[in-house]
Amino acid sequence: MPEPLVYLNGEFVPYSAARVSVEDRGLQFADGVYEVVRYYDGRPFRMQQHLARLVRSAAGIELPLPPIEEIRRAMDALVEKQSLQDATVYLQITRGPAPRAHGLVTDPTPTVIAIAREAHSVRPRPTLRVVTVSDDRWARCYLKTTALLPNALARERARRLGADDGIFVRDGFVMEATASNVFVVLKGRLLTPPLTNYILAGITREAVIELARGEGMAVSEEPISAHLLYEADEIFLTGTNSELGPIIAVDGRTVGDGSPGPIFNRLIAAFDVAVRSSQPIGARSS
Ligand code: PDD
Repeated sequence: MPEPLVYLNGEFVPYSAARVSVEDRGLQFADGVYEVVRYYDGRPFRMQQHLARLVRSAAGIELPLPPIEEIRRAMDALVEKQSLQDATVYLQITRGPAPRAHGLVTDPTPTVIAIAREAHSVRPRPTLRVVTVSDDRWARCYLKTTALLPNALARERARRLGADDGIFVRDGFVMEATASNVFVVLKGRLLTPPLTNYILAGITREAVIELARGEGMAVSEEPISAHLLYEADEIFLTGTNSELGPIIAVDGRTVGDGSPGPIFNRLIAAFDVAVRSSQPIGARSS
């Protein structure tokens, strides 16, 4: 495989030649924001929504962004230049290099990095086992910042317990997984936690809510007590990388009959149609 290209501060450079400063604020303070955008058949899925969230995240940490059009063009170009069809593009923007000092930098020169990688849509989706983990993250989880150490540690804890992922629980309520949102089917009702400062407003979450409603299903955004995970008929994750991921066990207890449920199956089928159609769901609002 040829060496991947990296977009770095306005240029496309080979992976091995891409370098950032040892005093980059992203390295020293996790002072940066990011997005992960999925491309299907060479087209971005819900790019507009990703860029809108990027703008919100950057505003939330007072980070000046380069022109958004430039960022969009860079991501598209990475996919096109490498002739990718199904890909994920990782975009990270930090406050850039500055002598280490805690206060924010006046007139920062942000570091802009983007990398595209081939991503296959694995069908059927691999089933997942999760464990619940105490949510020890900060109170601004709605900002997509690169401060992901608690997420990484929670994922590792899940792995060591023989699971694939962790679901964060805060004050007895389900929040989200380490890199995905959570949906629960309980007594025939489709539920997902409401958007608060403690979860990320997932682009896939929003698409799935729209798809479910389009399928005539009621979706309720309401607080979900963690103990209800043990009574759920179905649970699944949503995220740019995980797409829709069916959960078959929580804390070692089987969910439903231990296989992806009927609501999940309907939604992943609708999702597959939406992402591959020339008018993907959400295109109306782009
Ligand atoms: N993660 N919640 C968290 C904490 C996330 O990190 C993500 C995405 C999501 C789902 O958001 P979306 O549907 O917009 O991808 C929810 C990305 C993919 C990542 O960190 O790799």
